[in-house]
Amino acid sequence: MASTIIKDKETLESFRRHFISKKGAISLLFEAFKELPTGEKKVIGPTLNSLKQAAEKKFKSAASAIEAKHVSVTGQSVDVTLPSFGPTIGSLHPLTIVQNKIISLFQRIGFNLVEGPEIVGDWHNFTALNFPDNHPARDMQDTFFVQRNPDQLLRTHTTSVQIAICETQSPPIRSIALGRVFRNEAVSARSHCFFHQLDGMYINTDVTFSDLKGTIYHFVETLFGQATKLRFRASYFPFTEPSAEVDINCRLCQGKGCTVCKHSGWVEILGAGMIDPNVLSNCHIDPEKYNGFAFGMGIERIAMLLYQIDDLRLFSENHLDFLRQFKSVLGH
Ligand code: DAH
Repeated sequence: MASTIIKDKETLESFRRHFISKKGAISLLFEAFKELPTGEKKVIGPTLNSLKQAAEKKFKSAASAIEAKHVSVTGQSVDVTLPSFGPTIGSLHPLTIVQNKIISLFQRIGFNLVEGPEIVGDWHNFTALNFPDNHPARDMQDTFFVQRNPDQLLRTHTTSVQIAICETQSPPIRSIALGRVFRNEAVSARSHCFFHQLDGMYINTDVTFSDLKGTIYHFVETLFGQATKLRFRASYFPFTEPSAEVDINCRLCQGKGCTVCKHSGWVEILGAGMIDPNVLSNCHIDPEKYNGFAFGMGIERIAMLLYQIDDLRLFSENHLDFLRQFKSVLGH
């Protein structure tokens, strides 16, 4: 004899099958009932009907009790009486955190944030920036061209935005441009075919190299702390003269030497210089009257140093274990 005790979905189904389904015990009783003489039918009929109603009632109330306890979402049963896990909180991407920090740092000292297109012409990326045609300096930045069109390319640096700004605004100009840049380079722990840059510039009358140094010192001390060591090294960029590269002491090894600083204890964080007069006249700004400084940096490099990250690929591969580490870092 099947059990009449219902405690879960399985026993509910067994109850239905044995007692109230078409082939169940109660249906069989009704079959037998048909054969009875009329007199007996009158006696047994009401009892049989109330048995059927009682069984159906028991089934329905047991089914809704079980349903209330188990909510089936994916076919698996869930016990809703268990305590909840609480809401999961997302995190900002480390590059977003660093970008926000750098943007607000420069906005506080009067720089305006400007955006520019990722696909640009040769003029904005190279020619206006004083890269002569066929000049070897163009090889410094291996370029992706759009459908072999030499005049449509993925910008290799956000310095291209400087030209767009100078063409449309007149001095004094104090701007920063931020965004993704692209270079035809093999992907490794130290280089990538796309990354992020921030370029800044200040154009006015009587701008000096000391103004540039003051701005860069302010940037480094605010972002990395007062104790950070910093050095300017003479360098070359077609669009600045004189040009410099700025290094800070390596924060991954505290100057002891590691793969990130190539065992030198110093890491380059940006390029900078006084804007070449040719660049200003290319944008119809009179170099006799105005001059300026400019600087450009890779956001990934800054983030690597701030958070001791030693592989560039981590920024674009979206491993949750990596990204979850930034939950507690506020993005401003
Ligand atoms: N555009 C340079 C690069 O991608 C970086 C740079 C150097 C930007 C000097 C500047 C600058 O604005 O003044 O390597």
